[in-house]
Amino acid sequence: MKRSEINKLLEEACDFFSSGHFQLPPFAFWTPEKWKITGPEANEIRDNELGWDVTDYGLDKFYQFGLLLFTIRNGNHARQDAYPKGYAEKIMMVREAQVTPYHFHWNKREDIINRGGGNLVIDLYHADEHDKLSDREFSVSVDGLRRAVAPGDRVILSPGESICLEPYVYHTFYGEKGGGSVMVGEVSDVNDDRADNCFYEQLPRFPEIVEDEEPRYYLCTEYPPAFEQKS
Ligand SMILES: [Fe+2]
Repeated sequence: MKRSEINKLLEEACDFFSSGHFQLPPFAFWTPEKWKITGPEANEIRDNELGWDVTDYGLDKFYQFGLLLFTIRNGNHARQDAYPKGYAEKIMMVREAQVTPYHFHWNKREDIINRGGGNLVIDLYHADEHDKLSDREFSVSVDGLRRAVAPGDRVILSPGESICLEPYVYHTFYGEKGGGSVMVGEVSDVNDDRADNCFYEQLPRFPEIVEDEEPRYYLCTEYPPAFEQKS
């Protein structure tokens, strides 16, 4: 993805979240200049990759296959001594017909929440023992109500509704046509995007970035090391 495209998407996402009365924490708006002079007090943000995350899954068609996320809080399996937190929260902007491809998580249980805007369409399969699509039936919890799911069944979440996706449940989602973008929340176990995503079709989780202008905000994988004050 081009940096100029990411910059534009971040600006649109800021407007989208604030128009839905979802306020991001202050570090969402820290500039590269601010990061240059920020010390180890912000290590929780760096170490747990909190913040902006934009991906086109390496397919270079962001509006067809892509997702924009902001990780608000997270723990860290590898650094439990420093970060014992056992949960994570994200907010996402999912556009109309913008697909997050089929994937599941081996470890993470996640609630996907429609926090406002259009409807969110989610298609589901259970994974089989080879991490492929299974033909078995299973069930999910939609706001505390058990629902039977046949392979490939669709759940449509309108604003306010949420679904609990257990580990090994394949999911793909997109904003329903005609409803505009969807503000999607995620409340989950600790999130590890480097090791806990099994995509049905092998896809990179993070895109390559072409630097054609200065970054407006760093993505969560880009923070510079902590600034150390020389005494
Ligand atoms: Fe997921």
